[in-house]
Amino acid sequence: MSEKRTPLMAANWKMHKTLAETKEFFNSFLPKVENLDDRDILIAPPFTALALSKKLTESSSVILCAQNMHWEEKGAFTGEISPLMIKEIGINWVILGHSERRHIFGENNEVIAAKVSSALAHEINPILCIGEKLEERELGQTEDVLKVQLESVFGTLSQELAKKMTIAYEPVWAIGTGKTATPDIAQQAHAFIRSWLSNWFDSSIAQKVRILYGGSVKPENVESLMAQPDIDGVLVGGASLDPEKFSRIAGCKIIN
Ligand code: PGA
Repeated sequence: MSEKRTPLMAANWKMHKTLAETKEFFNSFLPKVENLDDRDILIAPPFTALALSKKLTESSSVILCAQNMHWEEKGAFTGEISPLMIKEIGINWVILGHSERRHIFGENNEVIAAKVSSALAHEINPILCIGEKLEERELGQTEDVLKVQLESVFGTLSQELAKKMTIAYEPVWAIGTGKTATPDIAQQAHAFIRSWLSNWFDSSIAQKVRILYGGSVKPENVESLMAQPDIDGVLVGGASLDPEKFSRIAGCKIIN
């Protein structure tokens, strides 16, 4: 039996927006999404803009999210931010394992698994990003790559904790390239991820976990992606920086 999952429309600002730009964004964005109560809207600003964003969105239902996190609570880790620091400013969501963290900053599955367990232990909801590179897709290895990425994280989690996860399927070849996966390609990968969850745990977990699609999502392609049965939301980079575009994405027509 399939369960109704609340759509999650998420923005990842990456290394963009000063405080002044953050303020400008929310001034324009919030009135445009005021009445959208059938879905969750989440924004991940850079660390420096999180506290201000929290204040600016106080009277809205927008969820704020960190873009990364260290697994330890404190220590000699220059340049890192701990789960306690995130929680202290009222943030309880974090993106982990983004392909830029994996491929530019060398984070491996083990590091990502440690971050996910730490987030869950601190009651921070992780959005775990997974996805294959172009050469892996071309070699027909997409499902093998996803399996390894899923197993390295979910293999360390109990069913209870697994339920709290959100997954973002982001094919690396579609991120920031303008090349979106077609709705069929995305649906195929999402269905694979859901069936993997069902086999590893059981179908109640598979039906509960939201799976977002990310990679060149725009106002023009969001509706056809959201119409797929296993796509429960989107994680948007480039197009989320513009309040007009992201409000059209967040407010798109959702039929399933
Ligand atoms: P993009 O980024 O929308 O700019 O392709 C997506 C992401 O990296 O989450």
